[in-house]
Amino acid sequence: MKRARESQGLRPPAFAYEGAISAGRATQLYCEAVPLERLAARHGTPLYVYSAAMIRARVNAFARAFHSIPHTLCYSVKANSTLAILRLLAGEGAGFDVVSGGELQRVLRLRPKAASKPKVVFSGVGKTAAEMELALRSGIMLFNIESASELNLLSATATRLQKRAAIAVRVNPDVSTKTHPYISTGLHQHKFGVPIPEAQALYAQAAKQPYLKVAGVSVHIGSQITDVGTFQEALERLADLVRVLREQGHDIRYIDAGGGLGISYDGAQESFAKQIAAYARAVIAPLRGLKLHLLLEPGRSIVGPAGVLLTRVLYRKTNRRKRFLIVDAAMNDLLRPSLYGAYHEIVPVSRKRRTTETTETEITDVVGPICETGDFFARDRKLPPVSEGDLLAILDVGAYGSVLASNYNTRGRAAEVLVDGTKARVIRRRETLQDQVRLEEL
Ligand code: LLP
Repeated sequence: MKRARESQGLRPPAFAYEGAISAGRATQLYCEAVPLERLAARHGTPLYVYSAAMIRARVNAFARAFHSIPHTLCYSVKANSTLAILRLLAGEGAGFDVVSGGELQRVLRLRPKAASKPKVVFSGVGKTAAEMELALRSGIMLFNIESASELNLLSATATRLQKRAAIAVRVNPDVSTKTHPYISTGLHQHKFGVPIPEAQALYAQAAKQPYLKVAGVSVHIGSQITDVGTFQEALERLADLVRVLREQGHDIRYIDAGGGLGISYDGAQESFAKQIAAYARAVIAPLRGLKLHLLLEPGRSIVGPAGVLLTRVLYRKTNRRKRFLIVDAAMNDLLRPSLYGAYHEIVPVSRKRRTTETTETEITDVVGPICETGDFFARDRKLPPVSEGDLLAILDVGAYGSVLASNYNTRGRAAEVLVDGTKARVIRRRETLQDQVRLEEL
């Protein structure tokens, strides 16, 4: 039977309402061909659900947008590091950007016997000698160096192991971004990178080390950036640096543009193809004629819109005139609203009327059960009337959702399901109390 697909879908084609409203039936939110109500009934809530098709589509959109320049997409593992998601991305040809030995070990687990070296770049301001050693032994593509002290430690570690490390210096281009201050990184007052004037000395120092190989320049200016002009500005500064370094005799082959491309959290549906094309133009323009291999480290823009968090309404509650929906997910499952005041759209999974017909709405907070006022997903949000027991979907949580989860209030971490067409499989089981106390001693 052909299902009616509503024109005002949520995040089509992966997350859309389907079904007829006639005869008093509700439309249902699907992930690809699987109704979300069914997944919640089978696996319980809170539950992360991801769309494989959407992740693939976004990787391919990157490939198309950047086809004119040799490039490698190194997906930023921190955005969502669940193994099955990483394997899906590796299957699409992606490399990886890691910031810890733990993330690197996740990547290495994907292909334990692979003869080829992993396409991995190692970023981060605080790499330890042990992490460097692991990265050197596994033959990663590039280390992004963030300070003179780190350069010295890498040189010493590489010399000890007699393994050559290809390096780029992550520079701080001193450009300001319109994003949340906690995730803006490209200004000199931030802890990240090396100011451009000081970077040259680091390259000179690196060139003298027998086990270091100067190979690139790198930048990452922050996250959730939607103004592509900022990327262009940063890359223009980087391109100038490449020219200077080449004049000084350094063999610069890679330019790592970092990640940071933002997504639309409010449902404004600019097509991804258009957005990514504008981003690609901004990144590529400054590199014209330089014959560089471009590295990209997107995280959020690949997986963000591909995930939802399903949560059941436990209670409705009114304090004076303030309304609350108390749901079974909490800040330990999804921290972004509490930590950054981030906005995530919340929708009922079953819709009794078309949104265009729904005049009836209520203003309510959507909150979790944790004993903190900061445990909220939405404040004073206009929602259609929701009853106790209803299922809600919190949208665009594929990036920085499950990875930021904790066990606060001794809550087990949510299960995760990956949908691919008509198939759905659990890619992370729900954490039990036994899992949580496993490392403790009485
Ligand atoms: N490369 C580096 C060196 C990074 O530090 C990051 C993110 C990325 C790539 C990926 O950036 P993306 O394409 O995902 O914007 N927890 C915050 C975001 C923190 C981003 C940290 N670095 C949030 O929930 O918004």
